[in-house]
Amino acid sequence: MERIGVGLLGLGTVGTGVYKALRNNQDVLLRRTGQLFEVRKILVRDPYKTRQVEGVQFLITTDFHEVLQSGVQVVIEVIGGLESAYAYVRDALTAGCHVVTANKELIAKRGKELEALARQKGVQLLYEAAVGGGIPVLGSIGYLLKANRVHRITGILNGTTNYILTEMEQKGLAFDEVLRESQEKGYAEADPSSDVDGHDAKYKLAILARLAFEAEISLEDIPCRGIRGVTSQDITLARRLGYAIKLLAQAEQYGEKGPISLRVGPALLPENHPLAGVNGVHNAVTLEGDWVQDVTLVGQGAGEQPTASAVVEDVGNVLRLPRISGSTVEHPPVLSGAEEGGSRF
Ligand code: NDP
Ligand code: HSE
Repeated sequence: MERIGVGLLGLGTVGTGVYKALRNNQDVLLRRTGQLFEVRKILVRDPYKTRQVEGVQFLITTDFHEVLQSGVQVVIEVIGGLESAYAYVRDALTAGCHVVTANKELIAKRGKELEALARQKGVQLLYEAAVGGGIPVLGSIGYLLKANRVHRITGILNGTTNYILTEMEQKGLAFDEVLRESQEKGYAEADPSSDVDGHDAKYKLAILARLAFEAEISLEDIPCRGIRGVTSQDITLARRLGYAIKLLAQAEQYGEKGPISLRVGPALLPENHPLAGVNGVHNAVTLEGDWVQDVTLVGQGAGEQPTASAVVEDVGNVLRLPRISGSTVEHPPVLSGAEEGGSRF
């Protein structure tokens, strides 16, 4: 049987999980896709680092061209950051490789251009792991859009901050201490200010809104505040009054092809709100459509295994989908949070 060559860019938290999942779940992938996937090269920054997986040393390189020259059809980008990731993804697509990425910053900032390149080359660019960790939220949007106009998205889209808020409340731990813990667990970004200042959630909201509303979304149009200003006293007081504090991402479209409002920031959720009890590293997304009414998806929003699950789902789909997803067509006016007038919660 022909083996599909895979190039893995990055062997950190997510890359390690992807390598293990491709190796350990080969039988599952084979049964579901009829294909065998084989990692041929792994790109890293430091070739001398001790790795969490055995037997990879002979695959490791620091030269991206070696990856492309190793006969790969699929390139998985899990290095993170913008410029190097962009150059590698662009070059992989240009070389006719399908690309799977978990990089929300890359897709939120350069997704449109990269998708156009993928279309031109007749290859796939898939990024399920970029939003919601292990939750198949992008696939679900694609599914819902066959019957619905989605008009509202409400989500807890960052695992690190949800973990921090939960641990501060339940264990009385200090912000810095829990942030360190979430870095050790592999939840946080390389630069964790992206998590705590809300930018990571903003990138994810932009990706969701672009797909769900089939509209161009500019990151500058998303007012964004993180959780640095939230204290343990705030959380305790909110709880006494019957509320939970969550870093909430919200997008709403007013009427078909109408204006869109987007925002990310801490919000008070009544305790009986479906997202108020979503704790720890879990993420949740509520999608509201004209026929389905509302659907809420909940699951692990970060970490090695859930994220690897989403990446490998895409790898399984990459040779089977007819064309790339997520074309952007319209550009309805985008309202700033202030114009639209505060949180609904
Ligand atoms: P890590 O920092 O754990 O791993 C990054 C890996 O990429 C490392 O192996 C590093 O090499 C390598 N790398 C970094 N820069 C370069 C470069 N310029 N050239 C070659 N190799 C490079 O990151 P994560 O695994 O946590 O995250 C990866 C991506 O997945 C990010 O885009 C992140 O946003 C996304 N993501 C992460 C999730 C998580 O839970 N961690 C969940 C969902 C998405 P070396 O090992 O030698 O240092
Ligand atoms: N740093 C991100 C988070 C990883 O905590 O949600 C998952 O995208």
